[in-house]
Amino acid sequence: MTHATIPSTRARASASTGAGPALDVRADFPILARQIDGRPLVYLDSGATSQKPAVVIDALSEHLRAHNANVHRGVYALAQEADAAYDEARRRIAAFVGAEPRTTVFTKNVTEAINLVAYAWGRANVGPDDVVLITQLEHHANIVPWQMLCRERGAQLRYLEVDDRGELSLDQLDAELARGDVRLVAFSHVSNVLGTITPVAEMTARIRAAGAISLIDGAQAVPHMPVDVSAIGADFYAWTGHKALGPTGIGVLHGRAQIMERMEPFMTGGDMISAVDFQSATWNELPYKFEAGTPPIAEAVGLGAAVDYLSALGMARVREHEQALTAYMLQRLAEVPGLRVVGPPEAERRGGLASFTIDGIHPHDVAELCGRESVCIRAGHHCAQPLMRCLGVGATARASVGVYNEPSDIDALVDALIAGRKVFGL
Ligand SMILES: Cc1ncc(COP(=O)(O)O)c(C=O)c1O
Repeated sequence: MTHATIPSTRARASASTGAGPALDVRADFPILARQIDGRPLVYLDSGATSQKPAVVIDALSEHLRAHNANVHRGVYALAQEADAAYDEARRRIAAFVGAEPRTTVFTKNVTEAINLVAYAWGRANVGPDDVVLITQLEHHANIVPWQMLCRERGAQLRYLEVDDRGELSLDQLDAELARGDVRLVAFSHVSNVLGTITPVAEMTARIRAAGAISLIDGAQAVPHMPVDVSAIGADFYAWTGHKALGPTGIGVLHGRAQIMERMEPFMTGGDMISAVDFQSATWNELPYKFEAGTPPIAEAVGLGAAVDYLSALGMARVREHEQALTAYMLQRLAEVPGLRVVGPPEAERRGGLASFTIDGIHPHDVAELCGRESVCIRAGHHCAQPLMRCLGVGATARASVGVYNEPSDIDALVDALIAGRKVFGL
């Protein structure tokens, strides 16, 4: 079995001074050698999905070429290799965020992980007059499952507000919890629009003390900063592989064992059972109880290689690199007339992204004009329509960085934005 090897990272001189990005790993990502219409690719859309290093592509390919078999069913050598690769991937993925393999469930993506909790925990534990508390900065993946749950169970869905700086208020959380009827609080670790890093550990401690359950959407956090699920103390923590340099088709849910043991399964069928009779069935042990059907085997192997790669870089250095790039991005975006960035003004209070509007140009036109220069950014509501309403905009443009970005990518973005304003006669 092959596993990811050490990345070809080279620390730059600036890393030690803290003056600039700490990583130089562009060469590890084959796609970044591409040109589009004769221009080098400037990829600033890691918030949507990350690019993949060669070690991940190779691990996926090597698994499919040499070790492919279904898991948990075969006695022959190849099937045992596939079993070992899958189990080993779970062990490394759990360890990457300080979690236990037994309580680390593979899903299709973070969306499915949140739905798993909303269905399997929510339907059994949320009743009429209970409250599910979420925040105004959530992605639809962390809104709609709770809307459905509350509608079905006659519960109330309430929101923590986002202030002018794009931050949440612990005082408001305390006030909501003091109502005594909050059953679950679900919130993002990092907002995919504002970039806000929420005070996860403070929030989970208060939620726990109030007797409620916490669920954190870590989709925009795990790929970009050190995350220790047990230190954070959430009851559930979910993230998605494709934003963390891994393949699509795999998400991860970490849960508290005592809660997961009491939960009924989410989906049912093969693999998640212990025994099936004509009229009834009993459930497999954790984590298999929550993994019905053939799981994402090759995807787990690929994500295992991705977390090995990130671990070898060191998540503290990843964060240092991206924070320096974000500070540079905020500084350079301020040079563009009429441009307004939403979210916390300080790079240290946000993840590696900036959402913005430009007076006189629709965000979709901004992204389109950037695209003409091979600068890949996203525009739209970013699956956060309620937040857009709070911000008083229909859409924003969003540039988001990854380990492979460099200051020159930010320069290319700013050049494209300035050229774009000229196209609009601004
Ligand atoms: C904060 C957040 N939550 C959830 C998601 C949904 O991720 P997935 O489509 O992989 O389930 C995203 C993706 O954009 C996100 O940024």
